[in-house]
Amino acid sequence: MTAPRPLIAGNWKMNGLRASLVEAAAIAEGAAGCAARVAICPPAVLIHLMSELLAGTEVLVGGQDAHWEDAGAFTGDVSARMLADAGAKLVILGHSERRSGWGETDAMVARKVQAALRAGLEPIVCVGEMLEQRNAGQAAPIVTEQVRGSLPAELAGRPFCVAYEPVWAIGTGLTPSIAEIEEMHRAVRATLGEKFGPAAEAVPILYGGSVKPGNAAEILHAAEVGGALVGGASLKAADFLAIVRAL
Ligand code: PGA
Repeated sequence: MTAPRPLIAGNWKMNGLRASLVEAAAIAEGAAGCAARVAICPPAVLIHLMSELLAGTEVLVGGQDAHWEDAGAFTGDVSARMLADAGAKLVILGHSERRSGWGETDAMVARKVQAALRAGLEPIVCVGEMLEQRNAGQAAPIVTEQVRGSLPAELAGRPFCVAYEPVWAIGTGLTPSIAEIEEMHRAVRATLGEKFGPAAEAVPILYGGSVKPGNAAEILHAAEVGGALVGGASLKAADFLAIVRAL
């Protein structure tokens, strides 16, 4: 089984204006020829401009969320098909900020994944436990359950990634130990294996949560870590490129 090519994806969250496109251009310039696949997921309104700007570079553009329907009366929402039409190649789904802030359940995330596949987008499906769950010894069962419920059978044979992001590590500067990251990634890999068989070996499992230039090399070289989903440190080209080059 070929090892998956690692993906380093920047999640800009609700940050960035048109003026921020200079950072994207600098990222594309600096990432040329690097070992990883590199993606930037800006706010939806920047996807079209960024896709045009980065056309012909190796950096992919992705969305941060998508509705499970392709079109319809869903005021304020954006569909996967629209993201693809604007130039996106990937989409983050089930991020903990969507799960906690918008009540997204595993079943909703699974429907969003189906919509992403219909649109030809590569989903990055996020899972991760909360601090109370970890402290109660429930991290692995919770994440296993999320993987089971958020990944529909249609993913078989299609490109996708899972991002393990412990909720308590997101934006806090805290990270699990390398042993804890490896343990959780092994649990995700085993669950993927149950669902998708040997092909699951080729699914990159990204780590996310306070990845920074200073800890990226150690995290990216940990067993079963197939890349990173980077929030705050993806907003500045210098920081994001330091992470990309840590591989
Ligand atoms: P962070 O966010 O790198 O700022 O912790 C990661 C994420 O939410 O994907």
